[in-house]
Amino acid sequence: MKHVRMPVPGVSLGCDYNPEQWSPDVWREDVALMRQAGVDLVAVNIFGWSNLEPSPGEYRFDDLDEVVELLHAGGIKLNLGTGTSSPPPWLTTLHPEVLPVAADGTTRFPGGRQAWCPSSPVFRERALDLVGRVARRYGDHPALALWHVSNELGCHNALCYCETSAEAFRNWLRGRYRKIETLNAAWGTSFWSQRYGDWSEIQPPRLALSLRNPAQIVDFHRFSSDELLGHYRAEAAVLREHSEAPVTTNFMVTAHIRNLDYWSWAPEMDVIANDHYLDHRLGDPVAELSFAADLTRGLAGGRPWMLMEQAAGAVNWQPHNLTKAPGEMIRNSLTHVARGADSVCFFQWRASAQGAEKFHSALLPHAGTDTLAWREVLRLSGILDRIGEVAGTEVEADTALLFSWDSWWSAEGEARPSQAVTYLDQVHAAHRALRELGATTDVIAPGADLSRYRLVVVPCLYMVSDTDAQAIADYVAGGGRVVVTFFSGIVDERDRIRLGGYPGAFRDLLGVVAEEFAPLLPGMSVSLSNGGTGTLWTERLRVTTATVEAEYLDGPMPGIPAITRNQYGDGLAWYVATKTDLSDLLRTITGARQTGQAEIVRRTGDGRGYLFVINHGTDPVECPATGHDLITGQAVDGLLRVEGGGVAVVREEAP
Ligand code: GLA
Ligand code: GLA
Repeated sequence: MKHVRMPVPGVSLGCDYNPEQWSPDVWREDVALMRQAGVDLVAVNIFGWSNLEPSPGEYRFDDLDEVVELLHAGGIKLNLGTGTSSPPPWLTTLHPEVLPVAADGTTRFPGGRQAWCPSSPVFRERALDLVGRVARRYGDHPALALWHVSNELGCHNALCYCETSAEAFRNWLRGRYRKIETLNAAWGTSFWSQRYGDWSEIQPPRLALSLRNPAQIVDFHRFSSDELLGHYRAEAAVLREHSEAPVTTNFMVTAHIRNLDYWSWAPEMDVIANDHYLDHRLGDPVAELSFAADLTRGLAGGRPWMLMEQAAGAVNWQPHNLTKAPGEMIRNSLTHVARGADSVCFFQWRASAQGAEKFHSALLPHAGTDTLAWREVLRLSGILDRIGEVAGTEVEADTALLFSWDSWWSAEGEARPSQAVTYLDQVHAAHRALRELGATTDVIAPGADLSRYRLVVVPCLYMVSDTDAQAIADYVAGGGRVVVTFFSGIVDERDRIRLGGYPGAFRDLLGVVAEEFAPLLPGMSVSLSNGGTGTLWTERLRVTTATVEAEYLDGPMPGIPAITRNQYGDGLAWYVATKTDLSDLLRTITGARQTGQAEIVRRTGDGRGYLFVINHGTDPVECPATGHDLITGQAVDGLLRVEGGGVAVVREEAP
């Protein structure tokens, strides 16, 4: 495993800082307040381009120089942006061809941010020129702790359908398939007269009159992710020519962004950094936070990672932007730390007075320091200082969940058995059930080594390669236990159905075969013989070698198996063919006990162990622990009690 290069020792506190929005007297006040708040690391120059290069080839570094020196004098480390995330208006005026084009062929104009085509050579050249200048100027500055490439690459501009992108897509396809006939076979172009005679005939999947080719769409996702990764690589290469500092960019492992396959990005980062915002459009935003943190840790290969952005209070971009209750920001921050973050950063330092984010919260709110929000920041800062020794330890997990962007893209094709079945919902449901049982779960890539897990959950792994399916089967044959949920194993990497009955790739492992899918209408449910209910989905399933654990009592498939169990080699494989509460099944398999709303997670390393208990609920929770609570400094003698809304981090000692 690659060594992680954490920018600051301990568990650091950081934020984005946009001094361009303020006058120099405010900068001084900012640094003084940052010191008061114990801010360790500050991201600057994230949207700096139009200030650094106000007109083509004219550079002005005075302001950034001054900010850098002020921060340095304040003992604050730099998470320095390359400044390229949004092109200045002069660039898109001189070169309108840089602007991204949507699937319907219409241009997306400047006036917001990220208005650039990922494949644009003009954008790349101008951006790398700026990166070179920034890198030469600050590359060996003593305050520089980390390079922050661009910002949330692909947040808005991941999929571009312009002519330049079309040509880049063709080149990417040539690299992947070599021969046009191989592409035709992979995309199944005999269907609907889509056969290509030459690469030049291929288009990105622009809007069409009818359903589009699903294999083409999946490849366009892969291409688009690779294009932006290519941009990251190009900026990182320039930085590394001039600087020894670690390089990263902020990922968006979150519910509403799905365009980047971060499994392929992760190995290129010196440290994994994620941005996470609570999404109140989801049923259980904190469960999603835990999932995102576990997936971020998976991307980090189990090593510590950085929370690069979160909100101190409300965001501004959801329909209803809820604030955080007292203590909530601290619980959320510690949930990230419990799950492997060694750095807790925020967007942003000072709430903007102008611009599209003027209603977004910040560490320093519009109302200033005589506020609950500011006092919470000071409290968090104190806690992070007291738990600093946790840094470098790793999260203990004995359960794994397989996650795949390929499956996310392909399972949600335009035409599928049920529009109500969405990939992330299935994944979240499985993760939530494990979390509620108190199991800490590593979220890892299909194909990863499974040997150390007691249980592996495979939710909706619609697209799976032969090799990855074999890795799961080998794990079970060797004594492992796996739970597979419906709409898994259906297609290979080309989105081609695995013939012979569902769930294709997992038929032998699970000892079942399904003849047809029978999704349920929204609102409809079926009764199961184990007392549970099913929604969304059923199948005409029969067992080959498996035993039936539950069958449908009614609905379209009465008497047909709904949950099965198969002995496979030395292990066991369960199949869940409907959407049902997985808790009972998982409790039986893991023997875990319910912990309700508390997050109980352990980090260990170098012979040390730390127990995190984060009580998101209102009732107190108790759990066995012996040692010292680092937050209160108090001894814990066998039983730890954490009040509703409270947090504890116990350095464990042998009882
Ligand atoms: C993203 C961006 C920030 C800011 C926040 C607002 O994470 O990186 O620049 O826009 O969202 O939530
Ligand atoms: C988009 C992103 C959010 C946030 C906002 C910023 O909506 O998805 O994460 O960055 O932009 O305003």
